[in-house]
Amino acid sequence: MEILIVDNPSKLANYAATFIAARVNQAERLVLGLATGSTPVNTYRELSALYRSGKLDFSKVVSINLDEYVGLSAEDKQSYRQFMNENLFNHVNINLANTHIFNGKAEDFAQECARYDSLIVEKGGIDLQLLGIGMNGHIGFNEPDDYFSMTSHVVDLSTETILSNAPYFESVDQMPKQALTMGIGQIFKAKTILLLATGESKSAVITSALLGPVTPRCPASILQLHQDVTILLDCEAARGILGAKGVYYKEIH
Ligand code: F6R
Repeated sequence: MEILIVDNPSKLANYAATFIAARVNQAERLVLGLATGSTPVNTYRELSALYRSGKLDFSKVVSINLDEYVGLSAEDKQSYRQFMNENLFNHVNINLANTHIFNGKAEDFAQECARYDSLIVEKGGIDLQLLGIGMNGHIGFNEPDDYFSMTSHVVDLSTETILSNAPYFESVDQMPKQALTMGIGQIFKAKTILLLATGESKSAVITSALLGPVTPRCPASILQLHQDVTILLDCEAARGILGAKGVYYKEIH
């Protein structure tokens, strides 16, 4: 696990975009696992800027998003499909037919999860997975649980997640209480993982995920066992690990 610490969120976005762009440009074809939420927004902005300046080509990228809210259609303003269109897909030359997100309005969610599982296999697995981290250690929408889920599934969102994401909706009642998510097993199988975290509010969960026990009670802790994971933090999110014994990190100024 490589832990990199940068000064602030804008440097983090810049570094993350450069990291992703290098992989995209090197590969003949890249399967990119994507996340939503506030953390990657500036990274997506930087990726769009790299595309505009001719330094990045998304034509050979296949994207697969981590999750979607149950009950929201692709047209819904709050859906993760719309989030991706607005924050990235509309600004770069990715072929929309190569972008994949769960259908939150599927009639049969078991079938939709099976479709997603097959899709990931059919595309040859995820080459680079971008992750954020929830306040409770969730990755994708894999909430703390008694076990690590292997495949795509419907999840009941935790109270903590509902409260964190409710501000994106008109009221907490409007926020879906369930989501479809890739399983931890599928995330873990990604060849390379890049996890981003910014702000002091993430410092406690980052400390438990990186220095605490590997446990499904903190789903992101599984990343300690992955062979190619980069954890990119700003100083605030890194506060709990700075100077901690037995942890190796690089500060980039
Ligand atoms: C979203 C996702 C979630 C978020 C996490 C952090 O697709 O997979 O795990 O990454 O909830 O969200 P923010 O970045 O809003 O703090």
